[in-house]
Amino acid sequence: MSIVIVGTGYVGLTTGLVLGYLGHRVVCVDKDTAIIDKLERGISTIYEPGLEELLKNNGNVVIFTDNMLGFLPEADIVIIAVGTPSKSNGDTDLSFVEAVAREIGQALDPVCPPLIVNKSTVPIGTARRVETVIREELERRNVECNFNVASNPEFLREGAALHDTLYPDRIVVGADDVQALNLLRQMYAPILEQTFTPPQEVPRPEGYNLPALVTTSPTSAELIKYTANAFLAMKISFINEFAALAEKVGADINEVAKGIGLDKRIGPGFLKAGAGWGGSCFPKDVRSILFTGSQYNCELQLVQASLEVNWRQRMKVIEKLQQTLKVIRGSTIGILGLAFKQNTDDIRESPALDVIRELLDMGARVKVYDPVAMNKYRQTYPDQNITYCESAAGAAKESDALVVLTEWDEFRHLPWADLGTSMKTKIIIDGRNILNREELMSNGFTYSGIGR
Ligand code: UDX
Repeated sequence: MSIVIVGTGYVGLTTGLVLGYLGHRVVCVDKDTAIIDKLERGISTIYEPGLEELLKNNGNVVIFTDNMLGFLPEADIVIIAVGTPSKSNGDTDLSFVEAVAREIGQALDPVCPPLIVNKSTVPIGTARRVETVIREELERRNVECNFNVASNPEFLREGAALHDTLYPDRIVVGADDVQALNLLRQMYAPILEQTFTPPQEVPRPEGYNLPALVTTSPTSAELIKYTANAFLAMKISFINEFAALAEKVGADINEVAKGIGLDKRIGPGFLKAGAGWGGSCFPKDVRSILFTGSQYNCELQLVQASLEVNWRQRMKVIEKLQQTLKVIRGSTIGILGLAFKQNTDDIRESPALDVIRELLDMGARVKVYDPVAMNKYRQTYPDQNITYCESAAGAAKESDALVVLTEWDEFRHLPWADLGTSMKTKIIIDGRNILNREELMSNGFTYSGIGR
């Protein structure tokens, strides 16, 4: 099939490269010519394991361009995967989505229109809104045309984007028209039937079952995306709330999570207590669905509470430093991990961001180390007065305390005895519960995890 994807962020670029790998003819569009230039040279614009290899081996199956117009007449499907940032009131800024819809409407071939698919995470009713915008443009052109807009939310995780796209749990397709559903079923057939040879970097998981295709109305598909993210965010906040209680009563939240996760009704995923969730999706989507709830006079109390618990988790790290160090002003704190989670250089709404801001406000000196996210952090916050270190050992040196805020594998295997000897005081706050408490304590550290 011939597929045009507009937007080359995590969702657009991953989807484009995967669909190309599966044998479709794909055109990836982005207004940013610097991005297009890099992608054409085989350089990935995002840090995502395996993506650059796929890009390099792409063999020109996927074309990159800053102008979709020439490719629209041939397209069977146009996928909208542009950014949908938050407005300050929690509402979602749809200007990029609408601009793409307008452009499509101005150029749509009325005889053989492609199926338009919303893949961006968008508020309820956006499929309808996209249709209206395209229709407005068609009316302006005085053109009659029957076209369809479907909603096809994406559930990939950063850091595991290729894996999640090739081996999803389910594919959700929301459309009112059977032909539209069939077209998307055809596009996803290699994934639904797992007929492709897995790329070397992303092997098929052992025991992987064929994914379900969930077909719904566009509105249900839109709500599925928000409900999934709100539920996962709530699940993490739930375990974090119980982490606080576990600390009070002397239980270990990791043990509790294991004990409840084995219950199939609960499941083991997303029960890791820590400094809370961040990233480009959970915070934005949680605020967006709260906004939608308020518009419809439907208060989403559990979602609201999840947001509040998440903020409390950030402050928990500061409280723990206060408890152990006593005075923060004038102390040197080493931060291990700037990315919002492992295997990504994404720092959006990361726990580190909130904790560093708070520490600087309180008069601490902050040293940081992250294996991949330091450049991005430095570029995004050039005015923040922090010291970037080349290694975890650099962040530890002369520090009064170390705080782990990203679950990078590297941090699990650090030479703690050596690090400890270079620190002023051996205090460690494990904001991700990934360290071996016994090993640290036997090396003379004062260890404090979350809920243990
Ligand atoms: C999320 C959803 O998982 C994905 O389906 C959706 O498409 C986009 O949003 P992502 O933001 O990439 O994906 O990361 P995810 O792995 O879900 O982690 C989100 C945050 O929760 C991270 O900050 C992570 O550290 C934190 N987290 C995750 C926990 O604190 N505990 C957990 O048990 C799991």
